[in-house]
Amino acid sequence: MCNIIRTAIDGPVGAGKSTIARECARRLGFIYIDTGALYRAIGVFCNENSIDVHDDKATAEFIASGAINIELRFINKEQRVFVNNSDYTEKIRTPDASMLASRVSANPEVRAFLLELQRSFARDNSVIMDGRDIGTVVLPDAEIKIFLTADPEERAKRRYDELIEKGVSADYETVLADLNKRDYDDSHRANAPLKQADDAILVNTTGNTFEQSVERIVKIINEKLNK
Ligand code: DC
Repeated sequence: MCNIIRTAIDGPVGAGKSTIARECARRLGFIYIDTGALYRAIGVFCNENSIDVHDDKATAEFIASGAINIELRFINKEQRVFVNNSDYTEKIRTPDASMLASRVSANPEVRAFLLELQRSFARDNSVIMDGRDIGTVVLPDAEIKIFLTADPEERAKRRYDELIEKGVSADYETVLADLNKRDYDDSHRANAPLKQADDAILVNTTGNTFEQSVERIVKIINEKLNK
């Protein structure tokens, strides 16, 4: 019987990682950690302080100066991200924040800065941590590693439906082309590229409902818990 189960869930954009991981954690009583929020908070905070996130050196110097104290706090088991004691949880969810996050996440100094912080959350707790490099870099010895994906066309359709639901006008072909570009960039960047860990279980959710995807992952974790 394992006491602490650390589950790493990695995968490409639009695979439904965060919603699926959050629900799995809720059902299992584990802490859910969304590591993308950390990159988003750094990107937004740099931008607010007029640091050009395309300038890796300036961004690195800003971080090294101790200007950013970033924390995750768990309120009713829900993660909130704080920068210098201010709650950034809502403002990191804009399209601009996604772009800033994507940019800072390619900066090796930013990745190094966040590494120990991410590891510290998983030290004493059963967690489900989602990101791009959790199984490969952050928690290479995680008890369970899942690489969650779905076919690009299905991920693009989900993203397109989300935009339409929000009242944002969108074109499916453009959404699909953007997603293919993000996949390419994420998996070809020099630092911690998105890739399936050798010992990760591949879960492809194409054609599955949300409930089916959650059940599949909860089953994998329960099997490990009962060992
Ligand atoms: O999952 P997300 O969209 O919130 O992630 C925001 C950005 O951060 C995205 O461009 C990928 C990057 N990221 C990363 O490089 N490594 C992680 N562990 C999590 C996110």
